[in-house]
Amino acid sequence: MEKYLINPNEKIATINKDIYGHFSEHLGRCIYEGIYVGEDSKIPNVNGMRCDVVNALREMGIPVLRWPGGCFADEYHWKDGIGKKSERKKMINTHWGGVVEDNSFGTHEYFELCRQLGCDTYVNANVGSGSVKEMSEWVEYMTFDGVSPMAELRKKNGSEKPFNLKYLGVGNESWGCGGNMDPEYYGCLYKQYNTFCRDYDSSKHIKRIACGPNAGDYHWTKVVTDKVKRYADALSLHYYTLPTGKWDHKGSATVFDKNEYNSTICKAYYIDELIKNHLAMMQSVQPNGNLKLIVDEWGTWYDVEPGTNPGFLYQQSTMRDAIVAALTLNIFNKHADKIIMANIAQTVNVLQSVILTDGEKMVKTPTYYVFKMYKEHQNNTLIGSYITSENIESKNDRNKQFPQLIESASTDENGTIYSTITNTSSVKSAKIKCQIADTRVDSIYAEIISGDCHDKNDFVNQNKVKTVEFTDYKKLKDGFTAVIPACSVVKFVVNK
Ligand code: AHR
Repeated sequence: MEKYLINPNEKIATINKDIYGHFSEHLGRCIYEGIYVGEDSKIPNVNGMRCDVVNALREMGIPVLRWPGGCFADEYHWKDGIGKKSERKKMINTHWGGVVEDNSFGTHEYFELCRQLGCDTYVNANVGSGSVKEMSEWVEYMTFDGVSPMAELRKKNGSEKPFNLKYLGVGNESWGCGGNMDPEYYGCLYKQYNTFCRDYDSSKHIKRIACGPNAGDYHWTKVVTDKVKRYADALSLHYYTLPTGKWDHKGSATVFDKNEYNSTICKAYYIDELIKNHLAMMQSVQPNGNLKLIVDEWGTWYDVEPGTNPGFLYQQSTMRDAIVAALTLNIFNKHADKIIMANIAQTVNVLQSVILTDGEKMVKTPTYYVFKMYKEHQNNTLIGSYITSENIESKNDRNKQFPQLIESASTDENGTIYSTITNTSSVKSAKIKCQIADTRVDSIYAEIISGDCHDKNDFVNQNKVKTVEFTDYKKLKDGFTAVIPACSVVKFVVNK
């Protein structure tokens, strides 16, 4: 029997709702088809945005959406995506499949999408192939409420009032697809670009995101933190989970054995070590600084589905992905004092998506149900939680270990406690005894997502994986006992 202690007296930090954020790039069928079908489409839409997808995302709880890339951001020229659609410039999306980008989804469409979703905004601007002037003018276009060339242009294009821009990314993966820069060079460029991106409304500071490291590149973190510490609000870490760890053969999304399953979970769990090490590095460079960490690209990355365009990064999603999402979100929660945002890649039809579409059909993936289940953590207070657990060895990772149980707990303003527990084992259930400090339990509600690790939702069987009520627990005076099934995610809602 594993011991689980929740301490509501230990209030650690507010879990920024943006930790549950998403990322949508002009890549494959994410924006076009997946989200935006155009006003003339037969698929029901409002101003071109698919109603089914918007409704599903609202129901799931999407707090913030990053756009337009990714690698695409550093070849995106925002002026090509404004004005009359028929006159917008067409370009080649060189990173993603070499397809023609007709720019019919641009700045106004993005803010309209966020309006429909009821979510905050995160625009990633172009450093790699843009200019200081271009970025500066985009910020003016989006946010200036007065008389200026860019504000006038925005008004002419139909938006009298400025848009609400919460986060601005200054370049993306500048160490790679964003320009192959050295950290010293990028750090200086960041300061230059950032200087000319004004906060036109001083009551609404636009949070600045500097390009952070790729996975375990601590040198990048060290140098860039030192350069930008007085000029940025956060540094962005990118980390993807590849089952094999190899880019030329990442592994299949649906066909995998137990070792590959364990290797996927082991590699996903590595994000905890990465976060701790990058935070420690940042801390050493800015001992009392305010620079936070965000993880604006994370998730599983497999070989594309057979027969699909390799440049479109379309992959299926199984219970294995639900476990990756659940354990990662528990880890992010536990770092809520230092992580202010995270964005899973990507919302629809690309990598670890929450939604897949095929024509007018739409499917919610197992990952969707995890985000929906965890929704109440958004803006709750993270509280102390400690669980004992067996470790599982990953044979493909030189027997590196990861815990079978990974949990987090939060409380809302009424004192209700929410605890989410991930059983990462594909075969073994776990008995737990939970004790909640200084608490008399009145009632408990619990729900679960579970199944074989290969289970998935597809266009034939749309509801194989879904959330159902969980009843295999016993309420105690000050907690509960439960059996957490193999390969499952369980949420306990405890009322005092
Ligand atoms: O999410 C797909 C790509 O992965 C992004 O465009 C890029 O930033 C990262 O390498």
